[in-house]
Amino acid sequence: MNPSVMTRRVIQLDAFGGADVLQLREEPIAPPAEGEVQLRQVAMGFNYIDIYQRSGKYPLPLPTGLGHEAAGVVESVGHGVTDFQVGDRVIYMNAGVGAYADRRNVDATKLARIPDGIDEIMAVAVFFKAMTAEYLLHRTYPVKAGDIVLVHAAAGGVGQILSRWAKGLGACVIGTAGSDEKCRIAREAGCDHAINYSQEGWVERVIAASEGRKAHVVYDSVGRHTFLGSLDCARKFGTVVVFGAASGPAPSIDPELLNKKGCLFLTRPSVFPHNADAAAFRANADAVFQALRKGWIKPSVSARFPLDKVADAHAMAERRQNAGSIVILP
Ligand SMILES: NC(=O)c1ccc[n+]([C@@H]2O[C@H](COP(=O)([O-])OP(=O)(O)OC[C@H]3O[C@@H](n4cnc5c(N)ncnc54)[C@H](OP(=O)(O)O)[C@@H]3O)[C@@H](O)[C@H]2O)c1
Repeated sequence: MNPSVMTRRVIQLDAFGGADVLQLREEPIAPPAEGEVQLRQVAMGFNYIDIYQRSGKYPLPLPTGLGHEAAGVVESVGHGVTDFQVGDRVIYMNAGVGAYADRRNVDATKLARIPDGIDEIMAVAVFFKAMTAEYLLHRTYPVKAGDIVLVHAAAGGVGQILSRWAKGLGACVIGTAGSDEKCRIAREAGCDHAINYSQEGWVERVIAASEGRKAHVVYDSVGRHTFLGSLDCARKFGTVVVFGAASGPAPSIDPELLNKKGCLFLTRPSVFPHNADAAAFRANADAVFQALRKGWIKPSVSARFPLDKVADAHAMAERRQNAGSIVILP
């Protein structure tokens, strides 16, 4: 490669499959186009959607990059960019796949500034996951003081943030997790009660923890293994939010079942449309950084992996060995 050409290291996949399809490549990178900045990426976030996309569960056109979230420093600025300057520290989570790289050109409207006092690793440990918790707790179902909130996979990356933030809003939070050790972590993350859902009878134990009142809202990112139980944990006119499928897709149901279970509201939202508009994205990012300052979000980094070992990060998450976020370093 011509030594005067700027290059970058980037993860690409040519086929869907196991973690071994993640290939590190070196390739030239062009200067930023109009409206873009070029980032030297300092840290990248692993998010569970990366596994769905790598495996083809959520198919992408191939070949493709992977990863939605990174934090870095602006190294050059394309024509027409007025909001950012060289040296600014920024983060993104909705600029399309391709965040697994040490350098990337990104549309400036997709960037938020990282406030002073928050380093890039701390920022990617929470940003995508907290932007998820932000819309789930405020717009999908606006959680109020006194509500009973059920959070599945409460020791996970999103789960810990969702639980602590819901507690900060004054809710009674019931968490579920896959082991007793993860239940302890869920309690540390703000859950009033934590129930091991790998054991029989978890639905009854959730209902007992709510003193028979059941949940105003159930946040279910586990899908296949929990969904029907989630319908039983929601109170009359309650809301069931299916926002992930860690154990596989939730089974299809007849809408009549929602009537039988108590005229429930069922929704399947996504963080991306909630942050498609630049002004909304920046306002939501501000809300996240404020929650971080208030202590309603606490970064919890379970593991760090270098870019060339990103397959190990995926394997760890698929084996359910992480509690909290996984961060990838260039
Ligand atoms: N819709 C959206 O807007 C949106 C945005 C962000 C994330 N999400 C979803 O939120 C969930 C959490 O994301 P995350 O990045 O923070 O991941 P994570 O919670 O750190 O990891 C997923 C967790 O799911 C649980 N799980 C249950 N059954 C599983 C199985 N069969 N295989 C693997 N894991 C299983 C595991 O916790 P236990 O061992 O405790 O069961 C695991 O640690 C994911 O489903 C993700 O897709 C959705």
